[in-house]
Amino acid sequence: MKTTAIKQMTAEHRHIETVIKSLEGAAAALEDRQRLDVEKLRKVAEFLRVYADRRHHQREEVLFFPVLVKRGVPGQGCPLGGLNHEHEKSRALLAALEERIAFYEQERPGADQVLQQALREIVKLYQHHLWMEDAMVFPLAEKVISEDDDRELLGKFADLDRAIGPGVIARLEQFAGGLSLRAEPIPAA
Ligand SMILES: [Fe+2]
Ligand SMILES: [Fe+2]
Repeated sequence: MKTTAIKQMTAEHRHIETVIKSLEGAAAALEDRQRLDVEKLRKVAEFLRVYADRRHHQREEVLFFPVLVKRGVPGQGCPLGGLNHEHEKSRALLAALEERIAFYEQERPGADQVLQQALREIVKLYQHHLWMEDAMVFPLAEKVISEDDDRELLGKFADLDRAIGPGVIARLEQFAGGLSLRAEPIPAA
């Protein structure tokens, strides 16, 4: 059974992946001493905070992973313990990114380098994380979760979306879709 909850989360991964590829391009552009569009960087940070973390990670941490645990997947260790840990780490990296975007905007000495480092750390973490879930956790979940589990998850996903605001989610998905899938630099404004 290809469950709808997993289809939704897989589709979210593709939006997140698009944004992560643009960050890879932004880090390469910084290395080439190109100037980045600060407004666009702030929108990327908003996307990561609201869409990737508040929506997607909450869906996984609070709703989806507990269903897997209920169906016999260990809550600690590999893979769920590691994935929860990476969600936490992504929040710390995002806080660092937001701080470094501000340094960059203020043109502080060395801001390019520390911003580049923050971008690369986020890219590395997300690439590994998305791969683990797509290749290991979702296929495992397909085997263990029931149709009732899926229906329950979809109801709770919708509740969470209502709390965030469907307009906000649509706007952020549109933003991600407007970024190129190729790893190209975020151009200067
Ligand atoms: Fe995750
Ligand atoms: Fe995920």
